[in-house]
Parts: sequence; C-alpha cells; structure tokens
Amino acid sequence: MNRFDGRRILVTGAGSGIGRATVLRLLEEGGRVAAADVNEEGLAATRELAGKTAERLSTVTVDISDEESVRTDAGGAIEELGGLDVLVNAAGILDSRHTETMTLEFWNRIIGVNLTGTFLVTRQALPALLAGGSGVVVNFSSTSASFAHPYMAAYAATKGGIQSFTHAIASEYSKQGLRAVCVAPGSISSGMTHNPGLPEDTDYSLLAKLSPMLGEGFAGPETVAGAIAMLASDDGAFITGTELRIDGGTHM
Ligand SMILES: NC(=O)c1ccc[n+]([C@@H]2O[C@H](COP(=O)([O-])OP(=O)(O)OC[C@H]3O[C@@H](n4cnc5c(N)ncnc54)[C@H](O)[C@@H]3O)[C@@H](O)[C@H]2O)c1
Repeated sequence: MNRFDGRRILVTGAGSGIGRATVLRLLEEGGRVAAADVNEEGLAATRELAGKTAERLSTVTVDISDEESVRTDAGGAIEELGGLDVLVNAAGILDSRHTETMTLEFWNRIIGVNLTGTFLVTRQALPALLAGGSGVVVNFSSTSASFAHPYMAAYAATKGGIQSFTHAIASEYSKQGLRAVCVAPGSISSGMTHNPGLPEDTDYSLLAKLSPMLGEGFAGPETVAGAIAMLASDDGAFITGTELRIDGGTHM
C-alpha cells in the first residue's frame, strides 16, 4: 500500500514511541517525511530504523514549546519539503503529581509542551497545509481527556484542550479542504508510559481501570501508527473534527 506516495509530511515527537512508529509507517507507505523532536539521539535512532526508506527522511531538532524554534526549525523543515500535506503532532510529555502539590512551574511546563506546542506547530504549518487544498492535521489527545487518570490532572487538561483545539480548526478551515482529527491512545508502550512519574505513595487501586481488554498488556506504538496512516490518507477522507480511541478496549 503506497497511500503516501509524493505526500509531504511533518511528524513531531519522532524520536521515540508513537511518533517514531508513525514516521516509519508513513515512509513505508511512500511518504516524504520530516521527523522533528527535541531529542537528537532519538532522531538518529529513528533514521537508523528507517533503513532504505531513509532516503525520503529528513530530521530536524525542534523544541515545540519554543516559538522561535518552531518558526525557524519546523518552518525550515516545511520549506525544505516544498510544502506540506500532513502534520502529525505527536510530541508530548507526561509527568504526574498529587494536584494539591502541583506547582505553577510544573503546570506550565506540561501545558507549554503539550497544548501550546501543538498550537505553535499547527499555526506554523497551516499556510502550507491550506495551500495544497487537502491538508490533514492529526493531533494527540489521550484517553485521559475523557476518563479519570489520577495524578495526571495537568496532562489530562492538555489533552482535553487539544481535542477542543482540533474541533475548532476542523470547523474553521473545512471549506479550504483541511481535515483535523485526534487520536486518543491509551496503554501504549512508549517512553512516557515506561516512566509516567507517578508519586511514591500512588494508590494503585485508582489505576485499576487502565488495563486493556485485548492482548496481554500494553500494545506497541505501531498499533497507533496504523490508525494514523488510515486517518491521514484518502481512506480517512470523510473523517474530521473527531477522535479515534485506540486503547485495546480499556475504556469500553
Ligand atoms: N503511550 C500512551 O499510552 C499514550 C496515551 C495517550 C496519549 N499519548 C500521546 O502520544 C504522543 C506520543 O507519546 P509517546 O507515548 O510515544 O511517548 P514518548 O515519550 O515515547 O514520545 C514523546 C516524544 O516527544 C518528544 N518531545 C517531548 N517534548 C518535546 C518538545 N518540547 N519538542 C519536541 N519534541 C518533544 C520526546 O523527546 C519524545 O521523543 C504524546 O502526545 C502522548 O501524550 C500516548
């Protein structure tokens, strides 16, 4: 299947987990991909894994929470691609605290990367996406936006915000052919789920609802990458302003 032949794609969070799996999947399907991340080593590992398809891969170090880096580095990557057909905003961070002990610095850090970063990269990419007449934005919500994830109030708030942001731009640019959708993963094995930063005195009975019904535990990031490939391709042509939950039935 070469659904992305000739398509120009920017993926953030491409140095690990779901972002990396998405880069590899979209390269496999023929896309030209700019892989962005704040972690240079992670990007180098993604390039290594791309094998022969790396000839259609470029990498760029970007801090999505930094307006200047997004303008210069992400903007430069889009220029180098000669336009943009698909944006996948996978970059994000997870950290956890009892809410009554959450400092403003902690709150702002999570909001700054997840929510503001998604806004900054989307704003940077919009002119190029609209120029093509059929641009697609895939944003990252989470099951935490709709279901209770204790100690993750800041993170959950960013994911709810990203969902609302995505609906707004889906509506705003619909007449220009832009589609905007969210994936809402849950229980996917990745950098952040290996180290969610849970408090030492975590009450694990509050996390009991986070076990998937399918399989033997957390799934691999490629399970989300396949769904993103469908949403971002013409197979998703009538899907916009909504989210797809990918959590092995954890929240049925
Ligand atoms: N794994 C899950 O179960 C799960 C569930 C719901 C949502 N998500 C979302 O999936 C997305 C991908 O996360 P993942 O699970 O693959 O985790 P991950 O930690 O493996 O990957 C996140 C990537 O984002 C990058 N990143 C962090 N801050 C950045 C910044 N300021 N600028 C640029 N890049 C930055 C990291 O370096 C890392 O490579 C995130 O938005 C996350 O919130 C994951």
